[in-house]
Amino acid sequence: MKTTKKLIYSLAIAAPLFGASLSAQTTDVVKEPAVEKKSIITIDENSLDFSEKKFGQRVRVIDVKDGIAAIEIDEEALPWLTLLMHKDFKRCGGFVLHEDIDDALNTLNAQDEKSMAQFSRFVGYEINQADSVKSAISTVKADGIYQMITKLSSFQNRYYKGEHGKASAQYIHDTWKSIIAGRTDAKVELFNHSQWDQPSVILTIEGASSETIIVGGHQDSISGYFSGPKVRAPGADDNASGIATVTEIARVLVSQSYKPQKTIKLMAYAAEEVGLLGSKEIAKTFKDRGVNVVGVMQLDMVNYKGSQAFDVVLMNDYTNAEQNKFIGSLIDTYLPGIKWAYDSCGYACSDHASWHMQGFPASVPFESKMREMNGRIHTANDLVSVSGDNADHAAKFAKLGLSFIIELDR
Ligand code: BES
Ligand code: ZN
Repeated sequence: MKTTKKLIYSLAIAAPLFGASLSAQTTDVVKEPAVEKKSIITIDENSLDFSEKKFGQRVRVIDVKDGIAAIEIDEEALPWLTLLMHKDFKRCGGFVLHEDIDDALNTLNAQDEKSMAQFSRFVGYEINQADSVKSAISTVKADGIYQMITKLSSFQNRYYKGEHGKASAQYIHDTWKSIIAGRTDAKVELFNHSQWDQPSVILTIEGASSETIIVGGHQDSISGYFSGPKVRAPGADDNASGIATVTEIARVLVSQSYKPQKTIKLMAYAAEEVGLLGSKEIAKTFKDRGVNVVGVMQLDMVNYKGSQAFDVVLMNDYTNAEQNKFIGSLIDTYLPGIKWAYDSCGYACSDHASWHMQGFPASVPFESKMREMNGRIHTANDLVSVSGDNADHAAKFAKLGLSFIIELDR
C-alpha cells in the first residue's frame, strides 16, 4: 500500500477560520470552470443519513461495511462536514480523509472481522498471575504520571514536524533510558521516519521468546486543522496522558525487577494526529519482518473521566473482540470497583487501527464514553487542569496495562 497523506479535520479552531476564508473568497471571484474536486473519506455509518440529508448531491456512498462507510464528497464541502460532525455528534474529526478509493476500501476491509480472523488471532490466556500482578499494580503512583503529563504538556507542542516535536521525542527517549539504566536485557531506541522530523520511541525488554507484547500511545499533539510546528498544543489528555501511563508501566516493571518470558515493547508513536502515520510504518515493518505480536494495547486519552458511570471504555471497532473480552476479565479480576463498558469510535481513531489492519490483535481502553469525551482536545486548552490537576484516572490504566502485560506473558 502506498503511503498516503491524510488530512484530519479536527475542529473548534477551524470553524471561525473557514467562515472567514470562504466569505473572503466570494468577494473577488475568479470564474473558473466548475470542476468539483472530490475527496474520499471513511466515516461512521450512523453519520451517513445526516450527511446525505445535508449534503445531497455532494456525497456519493462507495461502500458500507460493518458500520463504516466510504464516501466520496465534494472537497469544498469537507470543512462543513467537519463543523456538523462537531456540532451534531460532538465528534472531533469524526472521519478520515483518504488519498484514493483503494486506501478507503482497505480501511473498510480491515474492519471485516471475517477477513481479519485468518490472521488476527488472540490466543486465550488463563488469568493466573495474581501474585505478580497484584504486587506490580500496588506500586502504581498517580503522582508520577501527573508529573510526566505536566512535563510533556509544557513543550510548546509535540507536533510531528518541527523542533518541538523532535525535542519532546528526545525527552521521552531520555526518560525511558534512565528508567532502564542498569538492565542489560533492555534498550530504548528511536524509530526514525523519513517523511517528518519526529521519531517514534521504542523501549524493549527482551524475553527468552520472540513473542511480543506491545503497549503504546501516540506522543504527538495538534491544535486544530490549522496546527503547525509553532502553534501551542499542550495535548495533556491527548495524549501526554497515554505516554505518561506507559512511562509509569515501564517504571513499575523495572522496579519489580520483572523478567519477562516474552518480549515486551513499549511505544511512543510519532505523527498519529495526521493519520496514524508513525504506527502505520511501525506495524507494517513488524509485519514485514514476521514479528510475532501476540497482543497490542493502545493508550490514547486516559485521564479525563467523562461521568461517574464508567471508568474504562473498550472500543469495539478496529480491535480484536476476544482480546477485548479478556481485558474486561482483567478489570473484573484486578480492578475491583472499576466499571467498564463497550463503545465505538466509528472510524480508525487511533494507532490500535494500524496494528489491527496488519492483522495483530489490538485493543484500546479509553477514558470515557465517546459522547462524554474531553471537549478540549486539539486545542491550546488541553491541559491537565481539565482533569482536576491529578492523574488518578490514568493510574487505573497503568494498572490495567500492567495486568495485560503480565498475564499475556505467562
Ligand atoms: N485521541 C484521538 C482519538 C479519539 C478522539 C478517540 C476522541 C476517541 C474520542 C486521536 O488522537 C485523534 O485525534 N484521532 C483523529 C483521527 C486520526 C486518524 C488522525 C480524530 O479523531 O480526528
Ligand atoms: Zn488527537
